[in-house]
Amino acid sequence: MLNIALPKGRLGDNVYSKLRASGLECPDVDDNNRKLIFESSDKTVRFFWVKPSDVSIYVERGAADIGVVGKDILVEYEPNVYEILDLGIGKCRMVVAGPKDFYDNGDRTLRVATKFSSIASNYYTSIGRDIDIIKLNGSIEIAPILGLSDVIVDIVETGTTLRENNLEIKTVIMPISARLIANKTSFKFKDDEINKIMNKIKGQINND
Ligand code: PRP
Repeated sequence: MLNIALPKGRLGDNVYSKLRASGLECPDVDDNNRKLIFESSDKTVRFFWVKPSDVSIYVERGAADIGVVGKDILVEYEPNVYEILDLGIGKCRMVVAGPKDFYDNGDRTLRVATKFSSIASNYYTSIGRDIDIIKLNGSIEIAPILGLSDVIVDIVETGTTLRENNLEIKTVIMPISARLIANKTSFKFKDDEINKIMNKIKGQINND
């Protein structure tokens, strides 16, 4: 049996329909039903749903053979897994954003609020800018409004959250999309099963 870790939440809904369109028997995670594990009727595949940032932990440690995770998580945490396919969904951007009237003139250490400390710190190191990272766990957009930070490094998908909080994109750091990842040992020993699933999804992507 192949164990597949899937993300709950916004990215998840796109992923489940992509997998179904590829011919896999993948249900939606149902808010009314708290069951987090599902076995396909032929017992060849077991899906389970976890927090998006935990998918790569399950896959890295072999509790899942494969999984779907945003490129943001792979760049931020660098899990020891194989990235085997870009699913072309969950497309968004990692950006620096800030208040419309904020301009970084470099006269003092820049205060950056983010969930993605490593991405933020690597980006600012690459441009030689000193920063103070303020690590938050969500609702990052509030930080510059309340003066906790000058800018944020965060994910933008539709741009609605930035717009509604009077913030704007200052710099795009990288494009993001959902990736299929595999545990390194599973990729060796369950290669037939993994390749079969990967090819089904690839076929579906090519038909889009
Ligand atoms: C993400 C991200 C932004 C928002 C961007 O937050 O951190 O806040 O989505 O999406 P938009 O451009 O379509 O408005 P998420 O919903 O994951 O919640 P969070 O506040 O817990 O990070």
